Amino acid sequence: MKPLYIYDPTVSQVLDVEIRELLCQCFKDARFRYQRFNYELPVHRWILRNGEGKLLAHVGVHDKRLGSEKGELRVAGLAEVCVHPEARGNGYMRRLVGEAHRWCRAQGIDFATLFGKSEIYGRFGYVPQNNQLELFDVEAGVWKQKSFPHFQVLPFSAQSWPRGLIQLFGPEY
Ligand SMILES: CC(C)(COP(=O)(O)OP(=O)(O)OC[C@H]1O[C@@H](n2cnc3c(N)ncnc32)[C@H](O)[C@@H]1OP(=O)(O)O)[C@@H](O)C(=O)NCCC(=O)NCCS
Repeated sequence: MKPLYIYDPTVSQVLDVEIRELLCQCFKDARFRYQRFNYELPVHRWILRNGEGKLLAHVGVHDKRLGSEKGELRVAGLAEVCVHPEARGNGYMRRLVGEAHRWCRAQGIDFATLFGKSEIYGRFGYVPQNNQLELFDVEAGVWKQKSFPHFQVLPFSAQSWPRGLIQLFGPEY
């Protein structure tokens, strides 16, 4: 079993259904019944299938821009990390997340970010950050601040993560 990279615009109708079925089995969010993302479509994905071709594991990676005191940052945003309930405990998440991180490094991306549980992602080197995050409310036409207690960052270089306000261009992920 090898992790397979998927560029999201190439996802077929069949694969779309497979991904949504896996996401529905792993998360409670009802929106996965009709879309293969939570708030925003990730551009990159990695999947694992078993010998019979059944989809067992998935990770999505957003290519995000964030505004910060250090200027605009390009970061990877991991999302929809999941493994089929019957396939857990076999290191599949570790393999897919590791593959996504290798790709980020090769792309010259300085940070991976995610909104997730620190007991899971701490072991990959992610550190919770207490930046206030700001999202643009398109209807109101204003930036709105929001706290994200599960926001975590993994640096790939010696660069330090900026303090203070972070502007999230686009929706959360
Ligand atoms: C979380 C999830 C992806 C783990 O998948 P998995 O294939 O069982 O994970 P792995 O076997 O690769 O485990 C890798 C490491 O994470 C640890 N781990 C796995 N699930 C964990 C959990 N829920 N809490 C804490 N640690 C966990 C494992 O002990 C292992 O540690 P080690 O490498 O130091 O021994 C899977 O349980 C899942 O899909 N859950 C539902 C969706 C979800 O919650 N996704 C995460 C959103 S934040």
